Amino acid sequence: MPRKLFTDLRLAAMTPGSPAARGGMAVGVEAGRIALVAPQAMLPAEWQLAETEDLGGRLMTPALIDCHTHLVFGGHRANEFRMRLEGASYEEIARAGGGIVSTMKATRAMSEDELVVAALPRLDALIAEGVATVEIKSGYGLTVADELKMLRAARALGRQRRVRVVTSFLAAHAVPPEYKGRTEAYLGEVVLPGMEAGHADGLIDAVDGFCEGIAFSPAQIGRVFDHARKLGLPVKLHAEQLSNLGGARLAASCGALSADHLEHLDEAGARAMAAAGTVAVLLPGAYYFLRERQAPPVAALRAAGTRIAIATDCNPGSSPLSSPLLAMNMACTLFGLTPEESLAGVTREAAAALGLSAEIGTIEPGKRAELAVWDVEDPAELSYRIGFNPLHRRIIEA
Ligand code: NIG
Ligand code: FE
Repeated sequence: MPRKLFTDLRLAAMTPGSPAARGGMAVGVEAGRIALVAPQAMLPAEWQLAETEDLGGRLMTPALIDCHTHLVFGGHRANEFRMRLEGASYEEIARAGGGIVSTMKATRAMSEDELVVAALPRLDALIAEGVATVEIKSGYGLTVADELKMLRAARALGRQRRVRVVTSFLAAHAVPPEYKGRTEAYLGEVVLPGMEAGHADGLIDAVDGFCEGIAFSPAQIGRVFDHARKLGLPVKLHAEQLSNLGGARLAASCGALSADHLEHLDEAGARAMAAAGTVAVLLPGAYYFLRERQAPPVAALRAAGTRIAIATDCNPGSSPLSSPLLAMNMACTLFGLTPEESLAGVTREAAAALGLSAEIGTIEPGKRAELAVWDVEDPAELSYRIGFNPLHRRIIEA
């Protein structure tokens, strides 16, 4: 079995309690998994003859994980950006038939292949910053056929690049115009059957929803989650982004992998999430781009012991951001996370938000050999610099 040894690296292993970075380390890889993490001076005899690559003192972290994106979509919403700069709010634009529905129209008009071609540059931007796992949601099709088309496009992206794509079924993102005022019918005729059809085709890794005044109520999301449970699919939720409807508590009570956004989360919600092991996915790109004023309650999340992940939320309406490094910087500057929390948020905690903690997110024996090597000295530099990409390379051993 061929083994490969990476030497002379500063290691940010991201295991709980490990030092921020440790010099003089070696990492050994075998059969696509990490097999050895050791000080270079103490290499076991069987590793001394392995093929070796000297990384010249560079920093190694787990490959990054973007655990919340809407990477597949048609068109753009630069016009709405202009409208918001002139004073319209995100909610006003959505209620006037813009917002998610305008991207829905552009997405319905595109074929699966066209959606893949449109998404590739965004995916490549993530990969260029060290991403090896990306979550991609549906939610701009809003018919059974168009939702499945988005999910197939997401799967196709995972075949076109060396990246793991994890899909979320987000038909409960908005009520399309043809169901205006008939939300329950939309749930019964599109969301639930679409979930079944997508699951039957192996297209769905988790089920998501948007719990908000402009989208779905907790009771309606409850219906979606009940169906997911029947199919054995994990759930997650866009919750407490623009108002507090108690979505995070609902998500926690259903054992959700994550609740995401959370600007308007209260302490009870943070505690419920911690008790359920539901990860708080913070999305500073959306907070920044929508010029929100209320930041998520990071102190309450810390006090409750809620796990915190960070993601780009890459989407055309609220977060046209395809830089996980900038998301990390914004998590520090806008939300007050430490650089260590921010790095954990795109590695270990992002893995937890996808239910993949056993496979990825830290550098320790048994995990997948999916690594990022950076031309920086201190891991805090990854959060500190703005608009600069210090990635040396990704290492993905299959
Ligand atoms: O994560 N919050 C809901 N969904 C997306 C935005 C979708 C859109 O505006 O196109 C989000 O912010
Ligand atoms: Fe989102």
